[in-house]
Amino acid sequence: MSVDSKQPSGKMWGGRFSETTAASVEAFSASIHYDARLYRHDIMGSKAHARMLARQGLISLDESEAIVRGLTEIEGEIERGEFVFKPELEDIHMNIEKALTDRIGPAGAKLHTARSRNDQVNLDFRLYLRDEADVLDHLLGEVQRSFTRRARKYLGTIMPGYTHLQRAQPVLVSHHLLAYVEMFQRDRDRLTGCRQRINIMPLGAAAMAGTGLPIDRQSVAEELGFAAITANSMDTTGDRDFALELLFCLNLVQLHLSRLAEELVLWSTKEFEFIRIGDRYCTGSSIMPQKKNPDIPELIRGKTGRVTGALMGLLMTVKGLPLTYNRDLQEDKEPVFDALDTVKASLAITAELLDNTEFNVDRLRSATVGGFMTATDLADYLVRRNMPFRQAHGVVGRIVALCQERDCELVDLTLAELQGFSELIEADIFAVLSVEGSVNSRVSAGGTAGVRVAEALEKAEQFLGIPR
Ligand code: ARG
Repeated sequence: MSVDSKQPSGKMWGGRFSETTAASVEAFSASIHYDARLYRHDIMGSKAHARMLARQGLISLDESEAIVRGLTEIEGEIERGEFVFKPELEDIHMNIEKALTDRIGPAGAKLHTARSRNDQVNLDFRLYLRDEADVLDHLLGEVQRSFTRRARKYLGTIMPGYTHLQRAQPVLVSHHLLAYVEMFQRDRDRLTGCRQRINIMPLGAAAMAGTGLPIDRQSVAEELGFAAITANSMDTTGDRDFALELLFCLNLVQLHLSRLAEELVLWSTKEFEFIRIGDRYCTGSSIMPQKKNPDIPELIRGKTGRVTGALMGLLMTVKGLPLTYNRDLQEDKEPVFDALDTVKASLAITAELLDNTEFNVDRLRSATVGGFMTATDLADYLVRRNMPFRQAHGVVGRIVALCQERDCELVDLTLAELQGFSELIEADIFAVLSVEGSVNSRVSAGGTAGVRVAEALEKAEQFLGIPR
């Protein structure tokens, strides 16, 4: 006979209740349909807790071994899809504890000694998110590798660089691609920092005030691989900063993916024709036979909305909560799970998408003609000959106006015509006005010159472990 069936409510917490819980309340408050995914981490945490209870003499060694064995069996059942989750048991913690007690008897009923679901759920969530942070880091590395392989393949190819989506200055395609490697590196660094704050052990805060039983929190932290234990039991049970911070990290990842997605959508239009996305990664139209649509980048861009919604939602859930635990906090998991699923799927498909995207080298090169993209180079040329930059800016502006009037390019003007604007201009100006000359002149650290980009590429390849 199970421990709780003696109670009219049928609940593990039901001692003081004389009526059973309303079915509507059970349905409204259950979280098992989404927190079941914490099962491995719940079991991992419970095993460490049971072992500590035995070390501290709070339960016997036999009892702790029975608990650990029972939990291992339950884990196997869940993994094999044999475990029956019961909504009336609310959440993953109760479902597992009840199954354990049914299985091993009174020892199971000792597992919750010196523990509350308030610190237990915090522990489970931290353990789960710590693993997810590692998965994200791996996926981000894969995306960086895809970018880096493209950057190697198209090294030397020139394209227009844009500001305000107007042609600005010629750049190497590889420089553009490596910009994303930087963004995703910052995302990885940010996640590393977030992981450090996730990786603090909350168990022992109990309901919120700590416990009078002689527990050893430090040893639980060590067994579970935590770097430290939380310092204040009240802060611990009410804290979801680690989840919010992870959501923010996820938001920046998805934001970066969305900016890329927007570029892929633009670049695959007839108007740009900069890239060709492989057929396997595009879709057709049900009415227009000629269409080939970039639905995958569009979806990545679109999913940014729900990831942002998850962050906003949890911020609002936590806002205004008095210390410490409140049931509102149960609303923390769904947005985080959804954001994680969305960002992981987006990262995985982005890596594939990039591997199946080719650049139209000729089209990129021809897009650098027209638009006076080397005008800044002409100004810099004058600066090197000691003209103040503001004055040079004005001179070049007037030269551009003349070209526009004549519908010609800067290089189409004669030396004499150019010298009419400034006697500082000499025959070597034409090398400066060429697109290749412009790109290769930008040797400043972090610039687009071939030498700098080759260095950056090698650095990325080395860091990401890409064999040359
Ligand atoms: N399912 C709950 C949650 O996710 C677990 C903690 C419940 N604690 C409580 N005192 N009702 O937050």
